[in-house]
Amino acid sequence: MKKYITTPIYYVNDVPHIGHAYTTIIADTMARLYRLQGHDTFFLTGTDEHGQKIEEAAKQRGFEPKKYTDEVSAKFKNLWDSFDISYDRFIRTTDEDHKLIVQNVFSKMYEKGDIYKGEYEGFYCVSCESFFPQNQLIDGEYCPDCGKPTRILKEESYFFKLSKYENELLKWYKDDERCILPKSKKNEIVNFVKNGLKDLSITRTSFGWGIKLPANLNEPKHVMYVWLDALINYISALGYTNGDEKMGYWDSAVHLVGKDILRFHAIYWPAFLMSLGLELPKSVAAHGWWTRDGVKMSKSIGNVIDPKEVADAYGLEQFRYFLLREVPFGQDGDFSQKAFISRINSELCNDLGNLLNRIVGMSKKYSDYEIDSKDVFNFYKDEIDSANSLCKSALESIDEFATSKYLEEIWKILNLANASIAKYEPWNLIKEGKSDEANALVAMVSNLLAKVAILLSPAMPKSAEKIADVLNFKIETSSYKKLVENGDIMSFKSKDTSPLFERVEAPLLKDKVAKKEEDKKVQEEEKTQIIKIDEFKKIIIKVGTILECENIEGSDKLLKFQIDLGEEKPRQIISGIAKYYKPEDLVGKQVCVLANLKPAKIFKHLSEGMILSADDGKLTLLSTLNKVENGAIVG
Ligand code: MSP
Repeated sequence: MKKYITTPIYYVNDVPHIGHAYTTIIADTMARLYRLQGHDTFFLTGTDEHGQKIEEAAKQRGFEPKKYTDEVSAKFKNLWDSFDISYDRFIRTTDEDHKLIVQNVFSKMYEKGDIYKGEYEGFYCVSCESFFPQNQLIDGEYCPDCGKPTRILKEESYFFKLSKYENELLKWYKDDERCILPKSKKNEIVNFVKNGLKDLSITRTSFGWGIKLPANLNEPKHVMYVWLDALINYISALGYTNGDEKMGYWDSAVHLVGKDILRFHAIYWPAFLMSLGLELPKSVAAHGWWTRDGVKMSKSIGNVIDPKEVADAYGLEQFRYFLLREVPFGQDGDFSQKAFISRINSELCNDLGNLLNRIVGMSKKYSDYEIDSKDVFNFYKDEIDSANSLCKSALESIDEFATSKYLEEIWKILNLANASIAKYEPWNLIKEGKSDEANALVAMVSNLLAKVAILLSPAMPKSAEKIADVLNFKIETSSYKKLVENGDIMSFKSKDTSPLFERVEAPLLKDKVAKKEEDKKVQEEEKTQIIKIDEFKKIIIKVGTILECENIEGSDKLLKFQIDLGEEKPRQIISGIAKYYKPEDLVGKQVCVLANLKPAKIFKHLSEGMILSADDGKLTLLSTLNKVENGAIVG
């Protein structure tokens, strides 16, 4: 069977962040699962590069739009490559084939009578590239989606007859149970459409960075509305009207999107497809938004999460696991390092990593790494049956994109495996001479682990592969079919291994907010002149005996000393205490000297340290209560 999965194409007005990584990692997981199941899969991602927002972002940075989009688009592509995202095409809306197909689509809709020319006046949000009726604006002025100020635009425009498709859309929502996922999101869309759809303005004349209309329309002032341009990527990538080379995938299309762009995908896009006479997507699946420590992410707060930074600090596999596991699909989620670390330590290290180690250890001890499954069904049929039904429910969950529920079900298999070891105590079985039972237990748990590794492989490919390598089997469609679909078991030969995951003791990332706080603290400490012990340790104060002391000619302030600091030769030190002491009173006395001060010339005389004194208006030299060895360190 063919499978087609897409992410939204990302705007290049900004660099990739965790929201983009989330959508892409879910889509990658789905694509890997489809391939594992044996489906012929096409996975599409890319960048959305036209429109006023991009034009302005380029201008602000002093670039031509194309040069700017080349640069930012490459950042997305490089990030996905470094994350080993298994896309089949990375499409750019500036690709020549895409531009041509967008024009073909426009012509088709025009010829069908679904596009007409008119004039548009409305409140436009550049950030969302969208018009809003005044009654939807916040305080009559601000965008209801992003809260930024809107501007009034009046321009000649071509319109798409969206209103014509109102009933057909409502019928789709009603007839196709899975058209919008999670199902709870469908109502919002149905209500929006029931309130009445206005025709959609699909060209702009107020800026130039967009795809031109088909040449035969002779409309050089107009460029395509960026959402028409962008949505078409889903079919242009398959070669629609341009050879149709991959259109075979189209009937199985699933679009993964964030909740903020569901309206575009669940209303405009199917209406465009109806106009073209194409099949509608199998599902539009909408996920929620991520916040950080409960706060919305924004550049001005400085709490935006760079996915690369997180993956570098904690590990890519751990990052994928956390994103997929932490939030139920469709709901908003919070990224907190505390929650992340807790999942790494308890779920990845304890539940999974330790289990693998224990099984290897037991198989080594009981059966020289041979894990024979011949007696598993005799002794542990119930456990295998339970694991098989958990596999089924995991697959039912992922079918609705519920990645969190999917992993939860997989972890129930691990819990069963861990609990079985505790329950049957194989070490006692061995002692009691029941080695068949003990070996069967190890084999049963190994089979549970193998089923887990196969199911986990789309989400955590590298870790799953390592488990399979340790148990000496391959994760591929045939093992998926045998162990997961058919609920069968197999025998293994294990080998020694290093821990799958490392424990994390403290947060590994500092965000800009935390960094700012820390800088503030340092500044405050500097103000109050608090120093750390390390800083004090840099200062070397020694006790020494004054061997000689004399006035310096021409100065009534300075005295010249020769002081024995227990070193090879005495130090010469110049000190401004002539007003307080007579030279002859000081000879033979012990004083404290700052010994690692950079030497300096004072009044043409070299001074190799500083004699310490207390200042209460007059200077009194510091000494120790008792006589000490010359060179004794003060600290
Ligand atoms: N270019 C359009 C999509 C066109 S698809 C034909 C677009 N791009 S975007 O870069 O702004 O957003 C892309 C995706 O990132 C959206 O699905 C959006 O929901 C998602 N996210 C942006 N910020 C997010 C979070 N903080 N959390 C989760 N996802 C978020 O819209």
